[in-house]
Amino acid sequence: MAISTDQAFQRCLSPSCGATYDIGEARTACGECDGLLDVAYDWDRLPVPSSLKEFEKKWSRRNEPLCKSGVWRFHDLLPFAPPEKIVTIGEGQTLLAPSDGVAQYIGLNAGQLFLQYEGMNPSGSFKDNGMTAAFTHAHTIGAKRAACASTGNTSASLALYCGVSKLMQAVIFIGSGKISYGKLSQALDYGALTLQISGDFDDAMHRVRQVSEQLGIYLVNSVNPFRLEGQKTIMYRVLESLDWEVPDWIVVPGGNLGNSSAFGKAFMELKELGLIDRVPRLAIINAAGADTLYQLFEVNGQRWNGGDIDRAATTDYYEELDKNHSRASTIASAIEINRPVNYQKCLRALDVCDGVVWEVTDQQILDAKAQVGAHGLGCEPASAASVAGAKLLCSEGVIAPSERVVCILTGHQLKDPTATVAYHTTDQDEFNRILGSRGVQRAEFANRAVAVANDLEEIVRAIQLNS
Ligand code: F0G
Repeated sequence: MAISTDQAFQRCLSPSCGATYDIGEARTACGECDGLLDVAYDWDRLPVPSSLKEFEKKWSRRNEPLCKSGVWRFHDLLPFAPPEKIVTIGEGQTLLAPSDGVAQYIGLNAGQLFLQYEGMNPSGSFKDNGMTAAFTHAHTIGAKRAACASTGNTSASLALYCGVSKLMQAVIFIGSGKISYGKLSQALDYGALTLQISGDFDDAMHRVRQVSEQLGIYLVNSVNPFRLEGQKTIMYRVLESLDWEVPDWIVVPGGNLGNSSAFGKAFMELKELGLIDRVPRLAIINAAGADTLYQLFEVNGQRWNGGDIDRAATTDYYEELDKNHSRASTIASAIEINRPVNYQKCLRALDVCDGVVWEVTDQQILDAKAQVGAHGLGCEPASAASVAGAKLLCSEGVIAPSERVVCILTGHQLKDPTATVAYHTTDQDEFNRILGSRGVQRAEFANRAVAVANDLEEIVRAIQLNS
């Protein structure tokens, strides 16, 4: 099915501008007002299924790559590319796992918590959902190089798609010393051109935008609207796993705010298409050391306001950060971001989903992470912000114990072993060096290794003592 340009196009997010652009353009902002862009569709002229259940028919054709992919089996809901141009590596084979153990920790009734485990993606994080979509668009328009700034997962994902397909060269920008070894090792191993910029993610993001514009390199950060089309499918899979029943809450960590923005768009479109009759509420969780969204939305009361966003208030906020030399700082390095590029789109998602924004400390994040691990899934620190946030929302009475909650576990446990090992360590100096400096004081759920001499009797005694 070839998509004609008037069935799928790009459109400025701001309703008062509404400028449109061809689907074949590589843009990251509106040429008229500099706002973010959406991929938009003329649904009346596209074959949309009459019920979400229709997608189940794809299961019986799962030997076909586009039916196997957890992104592209929903192609009808992101119909911007012809099937023959789609680049898929089997992303989105993820799991919605019920977890009564973590439910109890959060304060939810048994049966009410589900963990959407995106760590099962080929590069180990949710990013592959969006990367297959952006990469497909880049391929469709003939790009030969693709770039991103990253706290580690976007770059791992881009590097993987480039490595597997050999269709493009990956150029990645990372803040020096700002990404975990697990993620850095992926970029290096998959062969990406890796530029370590002195500075943090916000600096790297600023530079990659300049450089990709100057050199005509395709940018795959989530400011790219095609990325978010792929990330919508995380919500389709959540609904699919719940037999198409809409949960009460989706809880997601907030960094660059691509996921939350994509989820809002997914539900907005499903509602518009009559495929769901209500939308879930959205809770976006910032790390307290990187809490721009929390500050602007909850403290300063900024709102979507029908698209009429007070942009000056955001600029003032950033100027204040600069004046105070304030930098993002959290153990959850994936969300160590102070200038989220999707901020405006995220305000729309919060509006669509009657959302809330909360912040959690590094202590709360690591305790929640240990609980997720203890119940068998394991995730990286940023992902655990969703569980820590859900716990806080329950204790504050925002989420009722009887409500059905889905927490998104965005990245695999092995992405950042340093934080995990430091939490469980017996070495107090190591604990203080890595975690104490972040205000983490205790490891309530630590599972400490037992040091034992290389002696049969002592080993047996150690096991008996600890069983
Ligand atoms: N969780 C993980 C594991 C991430 O890697 C990220 C973002 C987020 C949450 C936040 O998601 O940006 O959609 O709000 N990582 C980006 C990166 C910034 O470069 O890998 P978001």
